[in-house]
Amino acid sequence: MCDNAAMASLEKDVPLGGAANAAPLALNFCGLSFASPIVLLSGCVGFGEEYTRIEGFSNRDAGAVVLKGTTGAPRLGNPPHRVYETPAGMLNAIGLQNPGVDHVVRVILPQLDFTETRFIANVSGSTIEEYVEVTRRFDASPIDAIEINISCPNVKEGGVAFGNYPDMSAQVVAACRRVTKKPLITKLSPNQTDIRENARRCIEAGTDALAVINTIMGMAIDVEERRPVIGNVQGGLSGPAIKPIALLKVHQVYEVAGPHRIPIVGQGGITTARDALEFIIAGATAVGIGTALFYDPLVCRRINEGIAAYLSAQGVANVTELVGTLRTTKDVADCALSG
Ligand SMILES: Cc1cc2nc3c(=O)[nH]c(=O)nc-3n(C[C@H](O)[C@H](O)[C@H](O)COP(=O)(O)O)c2cc1C
Repeated sequence: MCDNAAMASLEKDVPLGGAANAAPLALNFCGLSFASPIVLLSGCVGFGEEYTRIEGFSNRDAGAVVLKGTTGAPRLGNPPHRVYETPAGMLNAIGLQNPGVDHVVRVILPQLDFTETRFIANVSGSTIEEYVEVTRRFDASPIDAIEINISCPNVKEGGVAFGNYPDMSAQVVAACRRVTKKPLITKLSPNQTDIRENARRCIEAGTDALAVINTIMGMAIDVEERRPVIGNVQGGLSGPAIKPIALLKVHQVYEVAGPHRIPIVGQGGITTARDALEFIIAGATAVGIGTALFYDPLVCRRINEGIAAYLSAQGVANVTELVGTLRTTKDVADCALSG
């Protein structure tokens, strides 16, 4: 377990994440060794096997791989269409299609090669009891860490509600915390008024890390049919279209999480090394890649190379030294006026 109280007592000048060894991209994330700051994101890589059939792709290029959202019982997901390309982005409303936690733990996890990378489960539920039960099952499995998705916008029964209200977010985190000692990552919703308050409550409730952000609610309309394109009417927007929003959310969450030494997995529209560096400088210890994989499955290697080249050019020994190094003044950072 990555004890967030213990982390708070670390020396201030220890980089957030902590260099794992001399390799410039290697880092320690909540006690886990990541070979790279790249994390492959939930829903974009199946259960860890999806891209391994593609020539040139390797899970070893990622520090960690997050498995598809998993619930207590199997789910068929939403009616089609479930994905739709938008300018610089993509809407999805998969609806958490998955075979249920029992199948994932008994059948899928034994097939994963844990020497390749760290594997992180992604937990969803309609009730707090379901979150707890799924977390408990993963706690008793070889999985390296558990991410709780309180921010999935596609589950009518409560996925949105848990993530959008700090009280409910904290209740889910506290309940899951009680049943696992594995590193616990809480994935925050951008679809809420004050992400800082939500982050603070999740930290108090015992989360070891935060994932920022999940998709942003959107829709598309077929004007010939005058119907929503997405079967679920609304979907989550991901990809480069959401990058500036995600970056601001990471910056805001870092203000709360940084002092507690709680690492952030920054995500939302990252497609290049420069994007990844922006998130790291804003405060992310690790960076998630999701939608970019759909059109460029080999993007991770290039991002790793780009980050390494930047570190070398800047004379920075390890990527963790960049975390939260944004130069700004408080006045500018807090200015709510945009024009
Ligand atoms: C098709 C699809 C399915 C997703 N499924 C999940 C999921 O099951 N659980 C979850 O926490 N996030 C899910 N997400 C959100 C991603 O993990 C990620 O947070 C989001 O897409 C932002 O990153 P990106 O712009 O790099 O894709 C999904 C995203 C997409 C595009």
